[in-house]
Amino acid sequence: MKLLAASTAVSLFLAERASATAIQHQRRQCAATLNDATTIANELQSKYFNTGTGQYTDGELWTDSNTLEDLHNLMLATGNDDYGTVADNSWVGKAALDSSTDWNSFLGGSNDDAQWVILALWKIGDYKTARGQDASAYTSSASKIYDIIAGQWDDTCGGGVWWSTAHTYKNAITNELFLLTSAEGYLRTQDQTYLTNAQNEWNWLFNSGMRNSDGLFNDGLDSSTCANNGQTTWTYNQAVVASGLGALYAATGNSTLLDQAEISLDATMSSSLVSNDILKESCDDADAGGAQCNHDQQIFKGIWTKHVQFYLDYANDASRTAKYTDFLSSQYSAVIHYGMNSAHDVGSVWYAPDNGGSVWQPEASASGLEAVVSAAKYGSC
Ligand SMILES: *[C@@H]1O[C@H](CO)[C@@H](O)[C@H](O)[C@H]1NC(C)=O
Repeated sequence: MKLLAASTAVSLFLAERASATAIQHQRRQCAATLNDATTIANELQSKYFNTGTGQYTDGELWTDSNTLEDLHNLMLATGNDDYGTVADNSWVGKAALDSSTDWNSFLGGSNDDAQWVILALWKIGDYKTARGQDASAYTSSASKIYDIIAGQWDDTCGGGVWWSTAHTYKNAITNELFLLTSAEGYLRTQDQTYLTNAQNEWNWLFNSGMRNSDGLFNDGLDSSTCANNGQTTWTYNQAVVASGLGALYAATGNSTLLDQAEISLDATMSSSLVSNDILKESCDDADAGGAQCNHDQQIFKGIWTKHVQFYLDYANDASRTAKYTDFLSSQYSAVIHYGMNSAHDVGSVWYAPDNGGSVWQPEASASGLEAVVSAAKYGSC
């Protein structure tokens, strides 16, 4: 009887969390901030989206996937359908709609890229479902990709998913994403396999040594010693782990996971990844002739803000939300005042006015969009 009572308590907890999460997802959003997001998204679509190929000019699979996720995240926030036809016309969407797509070949062996595709397909699916449309091609494609990635876990270095099918590197982002796709996959399907994978992933990641004494995740593990390789602490690595832990908390009710998530979020805000309260990637330089972030690196800061949004959705706790309100508002302000030009493109540098060093590519605009969408939900209004 005791066991029954305990499991009843757990189901009640989960039911409460499920309805609380639904409420939180509908949190009232800041209309003025959403207007800025729409302005940036409109410019991004008209400047970079090629309706013939369904790709962003000068984009990449994983960054295109993030951008698609962003447009749908925005439409779920505004309630409008400004980009309602984009998904089915995108190269990722066309692949999802075609049940004969060979995902192994489409994904090109990149186990991190593949999981950004999963996240995009889920978000597109959420949008379609919210509009009463059939999302099954998107969700079934996501689960096919997930199964491919789950098969990329082995015992080298004690566990973890390989960065690519070449099996040369185990790194933070691939495994943080696997924590998120596993925990979120469980919340979406109630399939226990996902939850087991999420728990195994967190146990491994926590003990992997990839988080350094400052609380920041380095890039990955040395392939011969399996020790932290000391490589760059990119901003996005500090928040994708948090959304993954938030999802695992939502699945289990273990709030220690939220404390773990905030170690890396808080470390970001007090580290050299920030200049005057604004995120600054190690490759960011406002001055001409300095370092410049490449296509991948330009979108990392926005992903940090987006995954703080997802983390706060899962945590669903006013006092935890309050810790990040000012910082998210500051990122929004910096994107608008320092990052954006008069055409509403956003450059790669947020921390200072562009002095010739900011880079203007679709990934940088998507990154700015992410900061604004996140602030619409969790910044001040
Ligand atoms: C809760 O999560 C923490 C952090 O991963 C872990 O150490 C602890 O064992 C978990 N508690 C339970 C009851 O699973």
